[in-house]
Amino acid sequence: MAQFKRTLITTALPYANGPLHIGHLAGVYVPADIYARYLRSKKEDVLLIGGSDEHGVPITLKAKNEGITPQDVVDKFHNLIKESFEKLGISFDIYSRTTSPVHHETASEFFRKMYNDGKFIEKITEQYYDQENGQFLADRYITGTCPRCGYEKAYGDQCESCGTSLSPTELINPTSMISGNKPVLKETKHWYLPLDQYEPWLKKWILEDHKEWKPNVYGQCKSWLDSGLQPRAVTRDLDWGVPVPVEGTEGKVLYVWFDAPIGYISATKELTPDWEKYWKDPETRLLHFIGKDNIVFHCIIFPCMLKAEGSFILPDNVPANEFLNLENDKISTSRNWAVWLHEYLEDFPGKEDVLKYVLTANAPESKDNDFTWKDFQSRNNNELVAVLGNFVNRVLVLTHKYFNGEVQAVTQLLPYDEQALAAIKEIRKETEKSLESFRFREAQKNAMDLARLGNKYLADEEPWKIFKTNPDRVKTILNVCLQITANLTIVLDPFLPYSMQKLRSYLNFEKQEWQRLGESDLLSAGHKINKPGLLFEKIDDDTIEKQLQKLLNTKMENELKNNASQPAKESIDFDDFGKMDIRAGTILEAEKVPKTRKLLKLKIDTGIDKRTVVSGIAEYYKPEELIGRQVSILVNLEPKKLRGIESKGMILCAENADGTLSIVAPDQKVDNGAEIK
Ligand code: MF3
Ligand code: ZN
Repeated sequence: MAQFKRTLITTALPYANGPLHIGHLAGVYVPADIYARYLRSKKEDVLLIGGSDEHGVPITLKAKNEGITPQDVVDKFHNLIKESFEKLGISFDIYSRTTSPVHHETASEFFRKMYNDGKFIEKITEQYYDQENGQFLADRYITGTCPRCGYEKAYGDQCESCGTSLSPTELINPTSMISGNKPVLKETKHWYLPLDQYEPWLKKWILEDHKEWKPNVYGQCKSWLDSGLQPRAVTRDLDWGVPVPVEGTEGKVLYVWFDAPIGYISATKELTPDWEKYWKDPETRLLHFIGKDNIVFHCIIFPCMLKAEGSFILPDNVPANEFLNLENDKISTSRNWAVWLHEYLEDFPGKEDVLKYVLTANAPESKDNDFTWKDFQSRNNNELVAVLGNFVNRVLVLTHKYFNGEVQAVTQLLPYDEQALAAIKEIRKETEKSLESFRFREAQKNAMDLARLGNKYLADEEPWKIFKTNPDRVKTILNVCLQITANLTIVLDPFLPYSMQKLRSYLNFEKQEWQRLGESDLLSAGHKINKPGLLFEKIDDDTIEKQLQKLLNTKMENELKNNASQPAKESIDFDDFGKMDIRAGTILEAEKVPKTRKLLKLKIDTGIDKRTVVSGIAEYYKPEELIGRQVSILVNLEPKKLRGIESKGMILCAENADGTLSIVAPDQKVDNGAEIK
């Protein structure tokens, strides 16, 4: 670390189309904040950069649905997010936004430089277009069936079921999100970043020079690089975003993932006229804190942009986290399955640090992890209250009781006292080691060891039992305890900043730099401490019950929503119906399509012929139990290739509200080829 003069920490810019939840916090903002606070306490030059990501299709779709402008949407959520971060105590040096004029200028300039230097390729391709609305359908404006896994609600940019990133033309049965229509193809010109040309360089830079990156990050990069990179479009036919800064490109904007990471640069620019020092001096260490869904953008695409632009440094590390679940279920904004930060702050005033503590203790650092309210309660009650709070409170109360709140000089240090004091230095070393390798849950645990040590020391020494007979010994014991307490305000400050501020006020003690951690005379004899309050409070069962009830209500609401049957479709005449040729057929063979979750390849005797049909029922039927069964099959459906297999026709199924399927078959055995009408 010695070769760096300063650290620039960026945190993924959250989309300003919804509030923050605990998943965002645990994955990105809490660890970044801990790290920034730690470096600040070491008096290092550090900036913590954040801001809202205010472009992209989800924002315009939301605006459309609610009948307001995209600017209204982002204003509302930017303010809510910014305020919640402030209350929680995420110590951004700046929290900016990508609709700011400085950002628009910075992103345009970045694009223009690359454009002038010939770093893009220009391509005219056919893209989906909604004729009714006169609009191209980029990214999330289009849905359809995933060609990989058969999930029917995949987006134009990604399948949320299997995680594959897609382009709209890969979707099967594409549908416009605006009108529900089938789109047509229309030619349009776009600029592409030729990622393939950067492949050799990326392979060396990541796979050889950054072997120290976290295994989850390194592994994802390796798999992207192993499967080969393709040129990627960095412009879109949309009207919300940073306009493409080239003549004659009306109606085109920069792709949101092109402009958003440049937001880190714009925000630094807004913060300080000295911004270039942080972005261009190789002695700056650049760190991107992100969640795992952002890895490819921060490890591959943005670095290629920075490299192509030419004047910026590259990230030194990208400590990405996995995902946090809630009560054993995936956090989901659309299903309202989340603990929302702004609601937490209202429900638990003064307990900002508790949330940070629990999220760090359970941080999804190397695998997905689970947040449960019971665990939240028990970590608060058994760790913060019973260990840290209890120790500190007893020390402060006893100092008042026996010595009027005055720190007493040590009379004589016994070996156990010396051991306790020496352990502080050990704890410091361990905590630093964990922090510097981005293992925050371990770091917090190490730091809490000092409170555990203090608690044990006090319980072993039992000063209340000997005060009458040996007050001199009690002077020493409480001195040791007070030194431990003062050290706690340093080692726990990055994790529990509000609480340590409180503790310093009880101790009548100024904030100290990290370097002093381990000293055994932080408080000198004669120093007067203040009357203490309570550092932490127990959280009772009723409070937890209320939160669980809230989640239960969400579950019930979702079920109600799902169970509501769709209204009947528009009526059709008999001829329309007659166009469908549905027959009874018998399944002859069945096998799973490799590497898919949902697809089965079936061989069916339709009475007319024996043909192959690929069907998305693998989650509900085992291949062997299907053989010999009769099914209803739409035989005149246009053939489709699914995973390279030509599928001729479709098996009819009934679909429950939750998406589960059941085969619709003749009630008794009939002839193969029997018409169903
Ligand atoms: N808004 C994106 C998300 O929530 C993150 C953008 S990070 C940035 O996934 F680098 F683009 F800013
Ligand atoms: Zn998929």
